[in-house]
Amino acid sequence: MKALVLSGGSGTRLRPITHTSAKQLVPVGNKPVLFYGLEAIAEAGITEVGIVVGETAAEIERAVGDGSRFGLRVTYLRQEAPLGLAHGVLIAREFLGEDDFLLFLGDNFIVGGVSGVVSGFRADPCDARLLLTQVPDPSRFGVAELGPDGRIIGIEEKPRRPRSDLALVGVYLFGPAVHRAVRAIAPSARGELEISDAIQWLLDEGLDVRSTTITGYWKDTGDVDDMLEANRTVLEGLEHKVEGDVDADTEIIGRVRIAAGAIVKGSRIVGPAIIGADARIVGSYVGPFTSIADGVRLEDSEIEYSIVLDGSSIQGVRPIEASLVGRAVEVTPAARTRAAHRLVLGDYSRVRIS
Ligand code: DAU
Repeated sequence: MKALVLSGGSGTRLRPITHTSAKQLVPVGNKPVLFYGLEAIAEAGITEVGIVVGETAAEIERAVGDGSRFGLRVTYLRQEAPLGLAHGVLIAREFLGEDDFLLFLGDNFIVGGVSGVVSGFRADPCDARLLLTQVPDPSRFGVAELGPDGRIIGIEEKPRRPRSDLALVGVYLFGPAVHRAVRAIAPSARGELEISDAIQWLLDEGLDVRSTTITGYWKDTGDVDDMLEANRTVLEGLEHKVEGDVDADTEIIGRVRIAAGAIVKGSRIVGPAIIGADARIVGSYVGPFTSIADGVRLEDSEIEYSIVLDGSSIQGVRPIEASLVGRAVEVTPAARTRAAHRLVLGDYSRVRIS
């Protein structure tokens, strides 16, 4: 069994963070989202992995290399443009051969790995097995409709009026019949070859498509709120470990990870929070669910429930929350302007101004 990881595409919803870099490499808990997926694949006993890459190929290849540090053998497959998930499968035809494979979307984050579904598929293969999960906002996803016997009867990609609240998780298991499907379908209204249409094709051909509904934690890290949530989940499992230099004027509360080379002075760190190597935190407050990457400088500032990427500097700004700060960013306070309330109030109005 092989794995195909899709790490091409352009992360429009995470712009400007991913204007210059791959969205799959944005870190949660100071580790790129994509690495959690690669670790889960290795843990499931798969070693041959094809990674579909696009515009950001160089950056992904630099980060993942030949895959040996994950225990994987990685082959890069270049997709000339983000023409759809099924197009990713199409260009991987030669790499995949006639093998069964796990299709994994590189921006998906799953807690608990994929070992269970992979071993289930190995023991009892079919043409496609999909993972589904209940979501509050199904129209953002591929949505499955199940028949009265619980079998899948239809799939729709981002439907305006969803027929269920069961979204397709970005993890699919396929046998070789899917290659016929991706060749048979036409581009969707948004101009992409949709994997959902390929699955619908398998269903229409009467092939064996099954599903597993999962209840564990899953996030498509498509936007900033999703990234912050995934970060929170990772930090919830954080182990306390302080290797950096922390002075006597600093107070550390709860589970906090401070990497070697980091310097923390006169600050208050309330976990769960992680601070990367060579970061410098001075006179600041770092609150729960915050990931501060390597080499970040935080001075006279307050931040919580946020992610700050490497090499950025935040000075004299408080409070910051629910924020995602890219690489090598500088944040400083603006000069103070007089804040005045300008009011046009009708007779007998009641107004409360804080
Ligand atoms: O996350 C689950 C959802 O993923 C499913 O519910 C949907 O049915 C499925 O279509 C997909 O929807 P998204 O709109 O979230 O897919 P996105 O464009 O974000 O692409 C997912 C990953 O695949 C991401 O890592 C980028 C990569 N990709 C995407 C395209 C369109 C490629 O490598 N090549 C591509 O052509």
